[in-house]
Amino acid sequence: MKKTIVIGACGQIGTELVLGLRGLKGSENVIAADLHDHCPEKLAGGPYTKMDILNRDAVRSFIIDNSIKEVYLLAALLSATAEKNPAFAWELNMEGLFTILDLAKEGHIDKIFWPSSIAVFGPTTPKVNTPQMTIMEPSTVYGISKQSGERWCEYYFNNYGVDVRSIRYPGLISYTSLPGGGTTDYAVDIFYQAKLGNDFNCFLNEDTALPMMFMEDAIRATLELMEAPKEKVKIRSSYNLSGCSFTPKELAEEIKLILPEFRIQYSPDFRQKIADSWPDSIDDSAARNDWGWKEQFDTKSLVDIMLKNVNVSLLEQNNN
Ligand code: NAD
Ligand code: SER
Repeated sequence: MKKTIVIGACGQIGTELVLGLRGLKGSENVIAADLHDHCPEKLAGGPYTKMDILNRDAVRSFIIDNSIKEVYLLAALLSATAEKNPAFAWELNMEGLFTILDLAKEGHIDKIFWPSSIAVFGPTTPKVNTPQMTIMEPSTVYGISKQSGERWCEYYFNNYGVDVRSIRYPGLISYTSLPGGGTTDYAVDIFYQAKLGNDFNCFLNEDTALPMMFMEDAIRATLELMEAPKEKVKIRSSYNLSGCSFTPKELAEEIKLILPEFRIQYSPDFRQKIADSWPDSIDDSAARNDWGWKEQFDTKSLVDIMLKNVNVSLLEQNNN
């Protein structure tokens, strides 16, 4: 079995992706890599290495010396954090990608997964059922970095034959680990506050519709895209992917059906402007036609599973 690495493995997606990949390829074949000195308990069932994706030489040596053939590059600053430090966000989100694309161009890596985002779209994009190909004028540094990354992925595929695959993830919702500084994070935080019996103060206004997806669907989509025969992967920038779409008010109403005491207030902050520039919903017919994508979780099933499974002790662990 060829060796695989997940870089940025301790984050919201990485924690579940590593476990999914280990189930598929065998624990010993999937290396988790992140900035942390020590491997988190959840990933302790397989190899872990401390790695800074910005240390190009060290990353190159590790991948070449360990004959790693498949790379999932997740390390990035997300939309809200990136707006606070645009220069560093650009550096982190782009340089790591070039390091990995170049390794593949030189023949050291067979296959790359690199996630893009709904943030590639901007205020001039059609908002409802946003098509795969449309106007893309992102207005955040995060969106600009993801759009540029998409262009470079396609360029490396067209010019050097690099097998790079990508999904424009919507806002991802999960209970295994906390989100890392995005504009869609409210849709995770809300479940912790509901479970604690607290009122929730939402940083977006009640009518802000955004595309969202339960993590299990996102991980399955990632594995399905990566396992798809090469000729079925016709888009080498990044695939639109849709799960469900809701506003904070609609999400709160679903929660109230299970926890009638739950209350929500709205205090929009700088993230409102980011959310206003993104689509309400996504047309993902290309992913459906090319490699058979179909979501399993709608808003209702996502709310049920989140309220059953969020563990409020994660909040404390994260604060320590
Ligand atoms: P996250 O912030 O939860 O995790 C990112 C991980 O990368 C963290 O564990 C962090 O320690 C690590 N990291 C940061 N800098 C690093 C470096 N220099 N070297 C090595 N590791 C480093 O993010 P996530 O939500 O898991 O997102 C992963 C990827 O998916 C990102 O590229 C993000 O843009 C993309 N994405 C996420 C979402 C979402 O809703 N979570 C949506 C669209 C796209
Ligand atoms: N969930 C991500 C964010 O809000 C979308 O890429 O930044």
